[in-house]
Order: sequence, then structure tokens, then C-alpha cells
Amino acid sequence: MEANMPKRKEPGKSLRIKVISMGNAEVGKSCIIKRYCEKRFVSKYLATIGIDYGVTKVQVRDREIKVNIFDMAGHPFFYEVRNEFYKDTQGVILVYDVGQKDSFDALDAWLAEMKQELGPHGNMDNIVFVVCANKIDCTKHRCVDESEGRLWAESKGFLYFETSAQTGEGINEMFQTFYVSIVDLCENGGKRPTTNSSASFTKEQADTIRRIRNSKDSWDMLGVKPGASREEVNKAYRKLAVLLHPDKCVAPGSEDAFKAVVNARTALLKNIK
Ligand code: GTP
Ligand code: MG
Repeated sequence: MEANMPKRKEPGKSLRIKVISMGNAEVGKSCIIKRYCEKRFVSKYLATIGIDYGVTKVQVRDREIKVNIFDMAGHPFFYEVRNEFYKDTQGVILVYDVGQKDSFDALDAWLAEMKQELGPHGNMDNIVFVVCANKIDCTKHRCVDESEGRLWAESKGFLYFETSAQTGEGINEMFQTFYVSIVDLCENGGKRPTTNSSASFTKEQADTIRRIRNSKDSWDMLGVKPGASREEVNKAYRKLAVLLHPDKCVAPGSEDAFKAVVNARTALLKNIK
């Protein structure tokens, strides 16, 4: 049996699972859990000290699920406390604040911390991860858009939800899908169910979209040297167009990336004799 498979009885009977929350301090982990379990929102920030623990029961199909939720403190100061709690987990709620780019960039470091604590024999493939792009109600401050977050999550085979603990948007849908995926995983012998989208685009497509987003000018976007010839620009364009054409690529953000590439080529060709 896999190390982090939950103890379970016969099918249809109750199941105990452990889920944890992860993400930088102040991104809204505790508020998301509170919104779901207590149907309320607290606007004052009360930092979690180490770990908060709670138990809740949910129904998934014909099964009663007893969920043990470990809500982790995001502050680096509490590393020594939370590192004990990564083991034997079936589900992770990975949260960032859409108005704090740092909290999005930190997601990889959170995965690395978990991997390190699980050790060389730990297996993260049989854990369901759901990414919450939280605080979507703060539209004015938003700096990580949906396609960027979704691309990161789905290219790793993780679920992705846009949430607001303040308004409640996305919270119930997120937990429902999360718990169903965990039960599916348990009934599937510990293999993570593949989401449609994770199977439908390649790593090369995801990496290219990210590279295009971060490019500093049109030359950089097409991946050619400044001063390149018409032929070189057209060749680079054709390669990207084949990779990202909306008819061929369903990766989040591919349409915008494709448009950006078309515009970059047009702009460059105007100035090349
Ligand atoms: P740590 O426990 O320190 O790791 O933080 P946390 O991630 O648990 O954050 P917490 O849930 O305590 O929320 C931090 C602050 O963000 C609080 O002031 C919340 O009221 C606020 N907050 C949380 N979710 C939302 C949201 O969806 N929208 C808005 N506008 N504010 C939110
Ligand atoms: Mg907290």
C-alpha cells in the first residue's frame, strides 16, 4: 500500500483523509477554510501560530468523509512547527494572493519544502493539489491573471480555482471538486486522476507561453537576435505559430501568446528592409 494512502474500510463506508493548506503568510488560507466550514469571513488579520487543526465531515457520493484539516502558518518563522505535518497527506490546498506576485512565485518553493520534508521515499504523485488564486474580489490590485495561474497549476496536473474568501466566490466549488478528486484517488488505488487540460497541452507549449509573457521586446519574443533578417523572423514566427495556434493549443494563455507573436512579427517586418 502507498505510504500516504488513507486508512479505509469497505467501499461506501466512511473514509478518513488529511488535508493541509500551504502558501505565503496572509494570502488567505485560514479565511478560505473558515468561509467553507463556518460560512463567515473575518477581515482582521490573525496570523496562524504554527498550525490550526480542525475536523469536518463531508459527503461524497455514497461515502461519508472525515476530513482532518491542518491549516499551516505561512510565515517562515513557523517552519520548524509545520515541517512535522507534511506526512500522510492526501490533499493540499495551495493558496496565493492574486494581488501579490511574490506569493505566486513562492508556490514552487512551497512544493520544494513539502518534497524535502517527505524525504526521498515520499511520493507527491498520489496527492491531490488544488491551487486557489485568492482575493479575486480585489480587482484593482490584481497582478497575476487567470491564465498565468491556471497555466502553472494545470501544467503540473493540479486543480485550479479562482476564489474569494471574502465574497465566498469559488469556495464551495473548489472544496467539492477537491474532495471528489481525493475520493477518486483513494478508489483508484492512489493514482491522481488526470484533469482533461493537464493531458491536453505539452510542457513545451506551457514553457513557450511563459517565455513569451516574460519577453522584453519583439526580438526576444520571437527568440531571434536583434537585427535578424526577414527570413529568420518568419522562420521563428512559423515555428511559434505551429506550436501555439489556437486550433492546436488549448494551454491557458495560448490565444494571447499567439496574438502577441503575430503583432511582434508585424512590428519587426515593418522595419526590416
Ligand atoms: P497565515 O496564517 O499568516 O499564514 O495567513 P493566512 O494565509 O492564513 O491568511 P488569513 O486567512 O489570515 O488572511 C490574511 C488577510 O487577508 C486577512 O486580513 C483576511 O481578512 C484577508 N483575506 C483573506 N482572504 C481574502 C479575500 O478573499 N479577499 C480579501 N479582500 N481579503 C482576504
Ligand atoms: Mg492562517
